[in-house]
Amino acid sequence: MPVVSTPVSLRHAEGPMDNAEVERIRNDFPILHQEVNGHPLVYLDSGATSQNPLSVIEAEQEFYEQRNSAVHRGAHTLAVAATDVYEDARQTVAGFINARPDEIVWTSNATEALNLLTYAFSNASLGRGGAAARRFALGPGDEIVVTEMEHHANLIPWQELAFRTGAALRYIPVDDTGALLLEEAENIIGPRTAILAFSHASNVLGTINPVQTLVKMAHGHGALVVLDACQSVPHLPVDVKALDVDFAAFSGHKMLGPTGIGVLYGKADLLNAMPTFLTGGSMITTVTMDKAEYLPAPQRFEAGTQRISQAMALAAAVNYLQETGMERIHAWETELGRRLVSGLEQIEGIRVLGPKAGVERIGLAAFDVEGVHSHDVGQFLDDQGIAVRVGHHCAQPLHRRLGLVSTTRASTYLYNTTDDVDAFLAAVAGVRPFFGVK
Ligand SMILES: Cc1ncc(COP(=O)(O)O)c(C=O)c1O
Repeated sequence: MPVVSTPVSLRHAEGPMDNAEVERIRNDFPILHQEVNGHPLVYLDSGATSQNPLSVIEAEQEFYEQRNSAVHRGAHTLAVAATDVYEDARQTVAGFINARPDEIVWTSNATEALNLLTYAFSNASLGRGGAAARRFALGPGDEIVVTEMEHHANLIPWQELAFRTGAALRYIPVDDTGALLLEEAENIIGPRTAILAFSHASNVLGTINPVQTLVKMAHGHGALVVLDACQSVPHLPVDVKALDVDFAAFSGHKMLGPTGIGVLYGKADLLNAMPTFLTGGSMITTVTMDKAEYLPAPQRFEAGTQRISQAMALAAAVNYLQETGMERIHAWETELGRRLVSGLEQIEGIRVLGPKAGVERIGLAAFDVEGVHSHDVGQFLDDQGIAVRVGHHCAQPLHRRLGLVSTTRASTYLYNTTDDVDAFLAAVAGVRPFFGVK
């Protein structure tokens, strides 16, 4: 049931995106029309969290004004209306990544989705889930493989799983440009590999990893593949069936949606064989004082009262992205990314992480300003209304590998113009002179 109409600005979008279209898109994002420290806001922190179009904001409001009720339980009309939008949203998000609705589990964010997996695998290692779940069980002699570029959300849960089960954690290293060393991956991924977990696109380097190559290596040894799709699903077309990953995780708030909702995708047969993580109401068929039987996926992983307005608003976000076109968004952000990187490379004293200009990347760039701490860079830019991210971006091991403690990151989205990038580059050019660094 479509709840929020398509924004006027997006109808009939065709051909490549340009600044004129982006200006129209910006009209749908109220937050972008403000001044910060006396300057028009230039928002370049969508890699951390994206902004929301009116259709998303209105979807959440509409839910509370018209349909607020708990799903799946009530016999009354409001409960049915809430259940309808909740399950419609699942269908919308499933379609967006070419999955089936029963392969979409709602979580609170990608971090929770990844933790859900690791706790379900722990439970399998304890014998929960019976024979069907044995394929998820880990123990000494098994290996979990990640990469050196992972966000902490796709590293620490695996460290903890290794600790709980006695499995070993290994990682695929990166070269000096941050690219994965695929020859090393060939040696690391082997018969002991039980799980390969890696990010589709790096939140620091912008690198887009060769998913299909890695999936082939892992599946060749019977390992499960978990994709951290936090920085890919919002920015480029992602087809989980074509990629053949077993699981994928992403967050609503990075793709124009609200906070408080994320997605775990899993192949249906795997989700149905996996032990549960959180338990309680809404995920059972029968309960006695001794034990419980669980519903099929996805409900078996959705214990307790769920994030219903957020699901509805996330569907509105997906509609917005689809109306604009993911190929078009990716092409526009690639252009912005190229402009960012080649502009930064021309400024003295700047070291840009990740692939050089011209190599495919998502539309973000993290960089070091020689002689100036990233927090000072961030403050200097904020004084000019430019919002960027500073610090280690939840990727301390990667920064350590590249000989850095922290960097500054500018990340774009469909509502950024080339003027935003140019304003940012002009401001960055002023950083070292301002701080008196020669
Ligand atoms: C690559 C990557 N993975 C995981 C996450 C975690 O996302 P969340 O904090 O929404 O769970 C992020 C967020 O920055 C990310 O960029």
